[in-house]
Amino acid sequence: MELKMQILKYLEANRGTSISGTKLAEELSVTRSAIWKGIKALQQEGYNIEAVTNKGYCLALDNDIVSVESLSPYLRGKSASFDIEVHQSVGSTNTLAKEMAADGAKEGTVIIAREQTSGRGRMGRTFYSPNSTGIYFSIILRPSLSMEDSLKITTATAVAIAKAIETIAEVPAQIKWVNDIFVNNKKVCGILTEASLNFESGGLEYAVVGIGLNVTTEAFPEDIKNVAGSIYKEKPEDIPVTSILLAEILNNIGEMMASLADNKYLEEYKSRSFLIGKEILVLRNKKAIPAKALDIDDKARLVVEYNDKTREALTSGEVSIRPIQ
Ligand code: BTN
Repeated sequence: MELKMQILKYLEANRGTSISGTKLAEELSVTRSAIWKGIKALQQEGYNIEAVTNKGYCLALDNDIVSVESLSPYLRGKSASFDIEVHQSVGSTNTLAKEMAADGAKEGTVIIAREQTSGRGRMGRTFYSPNSTGIYFSIILRPSLSMEDSLKITTATAVAIAKAIETIAEVPAQIKWVNDIFVNNKKVCGILTEASLNFESGGLEYAVVGIGLNVTTEAFPEDIKNVAGSIYKEKPEDIPVTSILLAEILNNIGEMMASLADNKYLEEYKSRSFLIGKEILVLRNKKAIPAKALDIDDKARLVVEYNDKTREALTSGEVSIRPIQ
């Protein structure tokens, strides 16, 4: 591991406490001047490391730059063995993760970016991903699921995210079938699942699940500013909340991976659904068809009833849904 990352790891384990340059040099078996250079490099990257005379170096409690080191204290269970990469800026983490999955990257490979320059959403939309105000990442999964059942990956991930928001930010999170999460009636998160089929088995070769979550983003582009929102208006002080929230999402995804086959998570999905029971518009092939959302079935499809009383179970690829206010 590069020396500056070793320094960061050490400071991370002692967040809020000053560690002398001599102690760091001893612990990492390098000179004090190498430590000084490493600290300078980290500070230049934006890490909030205070240098206090006669005391040493201290990583500030609210330093909230996401790194492997900032996440690891909060990872537990399966997610503690995920292969995590953090990039400052990429086009799209999903695009990168798909290339890696095609090259054989293992299940549990996680690509995180602090910023995306070409973040992608469903149906060819873009996903606004400004620097360090949101969580943008993709995880590679290799579940034993048929293509038909693959919708479960997105819905189970939505539950994993909603639960993490509720635990860490202590606000209720609602799910709009299939892949949007709302807090205070604003969309704070979207999920883009892209899968590759194994033609021989008919099952999935891999799935890349991309998650974009607005944590503290304040201003959104014109076309989404009425719909989009963030989890926090004011960021909590003295905790690295982005890292804690991201780690909790990974923990929940780790748990969910084991229980995709049974449908237990679906009850948790339905209990947070804000479409069930509502009058909606089914948007398909440039047509808007009025319907009522009745249920989510055991394949995670949205069951709707049209005005002529016919019913249909919708999969996500072909339609989008708009509630009628
Ligand atoms: C949507 O709202 O339609 C889905 C948005 C998904 C955005 C995430 S951000 C990380 C990953 N990389 C992407 O390019 N997209 C997903």
